[in-house]
Amino acid sequence: MNRRDFNKMLGAVAVAELTSLGARAETAAIPLKRLADQKRIMFGSCLALKYFNQSPTYKDLFLSQCDIATPELHMKWDSLSRQPGEYDFNNADQLVMFCSTNHIKVRGHTLVWHDSLPAWVKERLSPSSAKGVMFDHIQTVAGHFAGKLYSWDVVNEALDPGSQRPDGLRASPWLQNIGVDYIEQAFRATAKVDPKALLIWNENYLEVSNGFGDAKRQAMVSQLDRLLARGVPIHGVGLEAHLRSDQSNVLGDTSYELFLGELAKRGMKIFITELDVQDSTLPADVGSRDREVANLYKKFLTTSLRQPAVKGVVTWGLSDSFTWISGYRPRKDGLPVRPLAFDVNCQPKPAYYAIADALEAAPSRV
Ligand code: XIL
Repeated sequence: MNRRDFNKMLGAVAVAELTSLGARAETAAIPLKRLADQKRIMFGSCLALKYFNQSPTYKDLFLSQCDIATPELHMKWDSLSRQPGEYDFNNADQLVMFCSTNHIKVRGHTLVWHDSLPAWVKERLSPSSAKGVMFDHIQTVAGHFAGKLYSWDVVNEALDPGSQRPDGLRASPWLQNIGVDYIEQAFRATAKVDPKALLIWNENYLEVSNGFGDAKRQAMVSQLDRLLARGVPIHGVGLEAHLRSDQSNVLGDTSYELFLGELAKRGMKIFITELDVQDSTLPADVGSRDREVANLYKKFLTTSLRQPAVKGVVTWGLSDSFTWISGYRPRKDGLPVRPLAFDVNCQPKPAYYAIADALEAAPSRV
């Protein structure tokens, strides 16, 4: 029985019944990477080595579902460097090696961010030192992995309409110490050391059609116009898409679709980079909770994938056992969160079927 027939047979089945169908659900779980590949789209997840050590089943799930991966932690500045000038690439190298052995592309994440900075960087940054610190880091890290990565998130979360700046840029330590130019400099420096990698600006909340998201979109488009006019090597935009179920009315709508069109018009490749759905404010009942989460996955991804410039979908985890949402947005009632496509037993949830449906509905990329 194929996945569609299986889906039909299940109808609006509650998740409790679904998981009780264990083995059947397993056979029905056609790998998302395969469904995506039929449309020339990439599908994957973030990854940390500790998850594999804790659960061999999770490792199998990862291998079966993903053809692209983002290190959740191992390439962040504070994971790589605890002391000035000292870098430990051990974990990141293991991850890259594992992925290359298994033909999984790696999204480098991330070079220049206001977050995850080691204490020594924060202490050292000043208007006279910041550019040198940023260049050293890019040369060391992007240089170390040169030729091995699919892409780099060169800058991460650089916009913040809350900063009250007319350009909408975040008042990050990089902006404060280097000025607006840091973005251009970061892209140029990365292109120099790793000319093969796609260079991406990864950003949050661009997918939300409310006042905050609209301001971010405007800022993003004007930054792109500014950078592209100066010939800066920027190849794509990453939309994090940490979606909130209580915002489903402002997600995956027409204005979002128009925004994707604006990015595409500027030649940007678009990636959904950190997709998950927070269920913290949904009712406790697992059946209805999972259905709401799945509905939002389907709505958001169906709209996203209609835009051919969207080349890949990366979720921020695969099974509910390993998700940052349990710390970032825990439920008030203390119940475990269920933001991902597979449950704690690595069995597909309604969210899996929603993602699969959206991939099946997507037009093929050429
Ligand atoms: C998160 C990780 O998932 C957590 O484990 C870590 O404690 C903090 O960072 N935007 C990003 C990601 O670009 O790197 C963040 O990942 C989530 C928000």
